[in-house]
Amino acid sequence: MKTALLVMIALAMLASVAFAGEAAPANPQGKKYEANWASIDARPTPAWFSEAKFGIFIHWGVYSVPAWGPKGKYAEWYWHDLNEKGGPTEKFHNRVYGKDFDYKEFAPMFRAEMFEPHQWADVFARSGAKYIVLTSKHHEGFCLWPNAEADKAWGRPWNSVAVGAKRDLLGDLSAAVRAKGLKMGFYYSLYEWYHPWYKTDFAKFRDEHFFPQFKDVVTRYKPSIIFADGEWEHSSADWKSAELLAWLFNESGCGDDLVINDRWGKDSRSQHGGYFTTEYGQVGDGVQLAAGRPWEECRGIGASFGYNRNEDYDDYHTTPQLLRLLVELVGKGGNLLLDIGPTADGRIPVIMQDRLIEMGKWLKVNGDAIYGTSAGPWKKPPFEGGCTVKGNTLYVHVFKWPAGKLELPGLKGEVLGVEMLDKGLGTIKHEVRRDGGTQVLALERPARWDPSVTVVAVRMKDAPAVDAPPAK
Ligand code: GLC
Repeated sequence: MKTALLVMIALAMLASVAFAGEAAPANPQGKKYEANWASIDARPTPAWFSEAKFGIFIHWGVYSVPAWGPKGKYAEWYWHDLNEKGGPTEKFHNRVYGKDFDYKEFAPMFRAEMFEPHQWADVFARSGAKYIVLTSKHHEGFCLWPNAEADKAWGRPWNSVAVGAKRDLLGDLSAAVRAKGLKMGFYYSLYEWYHPWYKTDFAKFRDEHFFPQFKDVVTRYKPSIIFADGEWEHSSADWKSAELLAWLFNESGCGDDLVINDRWGKDSRSQHGGYFTTEYGQVGDGVQLAAGRPWEECRGIGASFGYNRNEDYDDYHTTPQLLRLLVELVGKGGNLLLDIGPTADGRIPVIMQDRLIEMGKWLKVNGDAIYGTSAGPWKKPPFEGGCTVKGNTLYVHVFKWPAGKLELPGLKGEVLGVEMLDKGLGTIKHEVRRDGGTQVLALERPARWDPSVTVVAVRMKDAPAVDAPPAK
């Protein structure tokens, strides 16, 4: 009896060890990642990311209080730009706050008193985005969660629970976003412009600040995405990034769905890590994206990431422009991470809510042509628009209908049928003809179309493919 009991206890213990292993499924396949790029790079980016296509970036921090930058510049760089003597930010600051007003005095003003995480999450869900990335800490070093390291070297509260909002902004938003069934991730800046140790003792900064802080935010919130940034002043070897990422995959307890980006050292953009990132159309340091890796373009609705009060109506992209951007990126095989900059009192500016919700209306009808698709068969579509593919369907996204017929030369294989994806727009006529050796699909302009993007679904017998363009 006693032995049986002992056996049962031993079995229960074993089961709980196995369960603990399951609860931390960093390596569901039992793979152990090593602290080098070859090993880290071998981890595939989880498929959900490439299927999701559309995410929302949120830049929110102490910089959201002054919320100002010259037009066309990043407002979240306020503190940095303030130090440019005689520059526009210093002039603005002196006029509005006075020259003795220190940047740190903005922290108690970052109060987020209007912040309703469920209202934000509702807007996100309505937008059709599938994942959210919030700045847990930007280059200013201020943390949106209660982190001990944030305050330590400064000797003053420098996180949102200790000062200002007095609230775990990252935790509260994570819960609300996940409750809507969306993936939650965060942005994290490796460097901090003015951290007391960063310039004077980099090893101390890395070992006693960066590492423990990063591990804290990861283990608390178990993100689905980590968007690292601020890596460019040191090599990934100096940051010990591969070591940290091996910890992340092997031990952090994050789920299998964890996705990381490529900003882990000045040698890593478009080269190492998870998916590759571009920003306002720029690819990291001009290096071309390596083929076969998922990638994501990020940008704001205007020209900043953090809220810029200096921007006007005309500085914001319209909904059709944003939808066309999404189509162009997805048609090339990428994702769009569209940024919003909430205000210091915790609101998403109404114009940003409008853009997101309007995009969502289009996606609700046309989502089949976006989610889970892959790049279109043409390098450059032969009309004003973009193409995506799913199974044997070619989605033709038309931005502007030509006066005559819209012609798609070079499409190979049998066309089974053509239909408008938005059934409310009625039907569309087509013809297939041969032009020499080339098959041409011609679409007649429909009676009604969507002024943003009209999607025509071309059902093919086999997977859509095109003739190689004639050699020049
Ligand atoms: C940058 C900027 C920044 C922004 C980011 C987003 O490198 O420094 O302000 O957060 O990229 O991609």
